[in-house]
Amino acid sequence: MENNNISIIILAAGKGKRMASDLPKVLHPLLGKPMIYYVVETALHLKPLQIIPVLSYKKEEVEKALTENFGYIFDFAYQKEPEGTADAVKTALKHINDRSEKVLILSGDVPLIKADLLYKILQNHIAELTIVTTHIENPSGYGRVVRDTEGRVIKIVEEKDADNNEKLIKEINTGIYCFSRQFLEKYIPKITKNKITGEYYLTDIISLAVRDNIKINSFLVEEGESLIGINNRIELYKASLKLKKELIEKLMIEGVTFIDPTNVYIESTVIIERDSVIHPNAFLAGNTHIGANTVIEQGAVIIDSKIGSKVKIKPYTVIEQSEIHDEAVIGPFAHLRPESVIHSKAKIGNFVETKKSTIKSGAKANHLAYIGDALVEENVNIGAGAITCNYDGEKKHFTHIKKGAFIGTNTSLVAPIVIGENAVTGAGSVITKDIPDGALGVERAEMKIILNWHKIKKRLKK
Ligand code: UD1
Ligand code: MG
Repeated sequence: MENNNISIIILAAGKGKRMASDLPKVLHPLLGKPMIYYVVETALHLKPLQIIPVLSYKKEEVEKALTENFGYIFDFAYQKEPEGTADAVKTALKHINDRSEKVLILSGDVPLIKADLLYKILQNHIAELTIVTTHIENPSGYGRVVRDTEGRVIKIVEEKDADNNEKLIKEINTGIYCFSRQFLEKYIPKITKNKITGEYYLTDIISLAVRDNIKINSFLVEEGESLIGINNRIELYKASLKLKKELIEKLMIEGVTFIDPTNVYIESTVIIERDSVIHPNAFLAGNTHIGANTVIEQGAVIIDSKIGSKVKIKPYTVIEQSEIHDEAVIGPFAHLRPESVIHSKAKIGNFVETKKSTIKSGAKANHLAYIGDALVEENVNIGAGAITCNYDGEKKHFTHIKKGAFIGTNTSLVAPIVIGENAVTGAGSVITKDIPDGALGVERAEMKIILNWHKIKKRLKK
């Protein structure tokens, strides 16, 4: 559905004082994405004529975040100072397209709004203005919708200006509106400064319309939770809980098992395929893709990584910007740092750290190892305590371990170095020279045995 007579204004200029933050409010992440991204995604769904984000506080930062993420040409409007929501709309109107007939106003801090609801609001928009309201159990902080005895909306009163009776009203203004362009252009200039706060309130447009006998269309949303506004970090948390529940329930319907969904952290960018199982306290973030039939166990942290099918990630493993292929087994307590690529059926066990390394199929590092800047070929076995000495204090060097090699326990591989196919290193060796295919490299001082040591020790003490 094209909506080529609709302009969408997204109010996003406020500093967000109540967030107590240097970061502009609309850039605060909600399950991994700045909250305003959700609003823009929903707006784009409608294919409007134009989208006008209104910016002011740290406008370059917000503009960059939007432009880079969406690759869409926004008609940005800038308020000199955020002097209130009506001033924001006034600024936006200077950018309105000539063909625009309707103006939909969304808030950068009301992120859970869905496109379906906007379609309904637009269908319902018959008069000059539609305000979107809902009922909220604890309405404090919101503008209250005041109706006359016949149920007609007569004004919206902000919390700060509300008297005790008005404060009891549970029907609130969601901050979402649809206006005819003509009406908006006529009435926005009529709004005056609020005497208490010195701000221009968009909500004052309602009483101005009522005064001129203009019919106000109100659209009441029954399920108001998706219209919560975020003004502080408690509300941010509440919105994230609601969104997380939606994400997890969608994944469950698609065939993913969550053993304890309330105790999982998952960002809205994560994809999981069917028959995978997510255990309690998993932390799944960023651009992470988890294949089918994979098990992510207790406390695993997975960030920006691609995990294949039938993979097992055991408890308390940390994986960042890495790739794990099908049927690999990782952990418990493994740390895969960026650019680790673990091929199919490879095993990375307890207390093994990898970084910028490729571990080919069937290779194993089962315990206590560090593999950095390395290529470990098929079926290599890396013993406990083996490490690649990849850093000489100035530069990083590469280690290449060829197919089938066996790296003995506590080997130090001083890079740059090549260990040949099926070569072996003796336990405890410090390997400083390349080892040819099939050879043994061992570096050890000769071991001594001193017989009767306990008697000698006593004698020496006297
Ligand atoms: C606003 C509404 C309130 C409603 C609530 C819903 C007004 C006066 N009040 O209150 O009735 O219940 O939203 O969430 O409109 N902004 C600008 N420029 C400004 C001021 C604000 O762009 O000069 C933006 C903010 O960045 C924010 C949005 O407008 O995204 C709403 O402003 P905010 O200060 O959060 O208003 P609320 O107190 O939440
Ligand atoms: Mg708000």
